[in-house]
Amino acid sequence: MNAVAKEINQDVVFAADNLARYYTVKRSMFEQGTVKALNGVSFELKRGRTLAVVGESGCGKSTLARQLTMIETPTSGRLLIDGEDVAGASKEKIAHLRQRVQMVFQNPFASLNPRKTIEQALGEPLAINTKLNANERAERIAHMMRTVGLWPEHASRYPHMFSGGQRQRVAIARAMILDPQIVVADEPVSAIDVSIQAQILNLFMDLQERFGTSYVFISHNLSVVEHIADDVMVMYFGGIAELGDKQTIAKPRHPYTRALMSATPALFEEDRRIKIKLQGEIPSPLNPPSGCTFHQRCPYAIERCRVEEPKLRVVDGRQVSCHRAEEVGDDEA
Ligand SMILES: Nc1ncnc2c1ncn2[C@@H]1O[C@H](COP(=O)(O)OP(=O)(O)OP(=O)(O)O)[C@@H](O)[C@H]1O
Ligand code: SF4
Ligand SMILES: [Mg+2]
Repeated sequence: MNAVAKEINQDVVFAADNLARYYTVKRSMFEQGTVKALNGVSFELKRGRTLAVVGESGCGKSTLARQLTMIETPTSGRLLIDGEDVAGASKEKIAHLRQRVQMVFQNPFASLNPRKTIEQALGEPLAINTKLNANERAERIAHMMRTVGLWPEHASRYPHMFSGGQRQRVAIARAMILDPQIVVADEPVSAIDVSIQAQILNLFMDLQERFGTSYVFISHNLSVVEHIADDVMVMYFGGIAELGDKQTIAKPRHPYTRALMSATPALFEEDRRIKIKLQGEIPSPLNPPSGCTFHQRCPYAIERCRVEEPKLRVVDGRQVSCHRAEEVGDDEA
């Protein structure tokens, strides 16, 4: 979809409202603890747009993906698909909504059954969810294979007979075969050879243009999302550090976003002026810091940050959770 079409069609297809997921884990032989893997995340995704979710390992990206794809049930908060609250939906409705939201995983080897041919892998969802007969299914499979850049003649092959990039094309074809509204892709190119990552990213963009699919595109690497994203959500420690459209986030107002960008050479050129180095380790999820969860690593931290948790608020056209957001973008001028 071109930029103009994206502007015209502004329907919200996917919304998360204060979504949270906690896990109970063993602290020791006798003691249990709670990991707040996802701690109140809200966003809206519009038709045909891509929301990129970025952040370091352990910040809750995959946990978010599992709630969005209904693989898990959130501890609290709401998920709305086309305005419909998943929590209140009937079993039949949930089954229908599951078709609307598909997932692409990091490792296509793990997500594809090694004993099933591509024809079987793609044919299964069609046999379960549509009334197509065998011929029509074969036609749809051949068409989808061509669409993702595979030879339909290879439909009888098994996943191990393909290269990593081709296998991810198969996984993408499987996700797209029921024409979903939303695809949640969790690090879909991280396991793929760097030389072909761009081809897979281009495939995602071509498919979006063709079918109007909305994406939640997860990556720990900002440079991967640079081209594909319309909106960017930066996560830290289970929460949102900063959220806004890509051009706005390119001039960050959260020190963590700035640090991520500093660590990504040749990216977001406008913010090359000041470099912020991430210091220290990510805190233990079993022992979260007081106040701002980033304060132990933040070069801007002041006493207030240690005691008062910053609320997500709108500053300069984006949502940001930092007491000093107004100063953070202005200090390099
Ligand atoms: N099933 C679970 N039980 C207990 N803790 C969990 C579970 N799943 C995730 N966590 C914890 O929740 C936090 C978020 O994990 P998550 O896998 O969502 O992070 P991530 O951003 O996807 O990281 P990565 O970039 O490494 O994939 C981590 O502290 C993780 O250890
Ligand atoms: S609230 Fe304070 S510690 Fe947190 S990011 Fe902002 S300046 Fe840094
Ligand atoms: Mg993950």
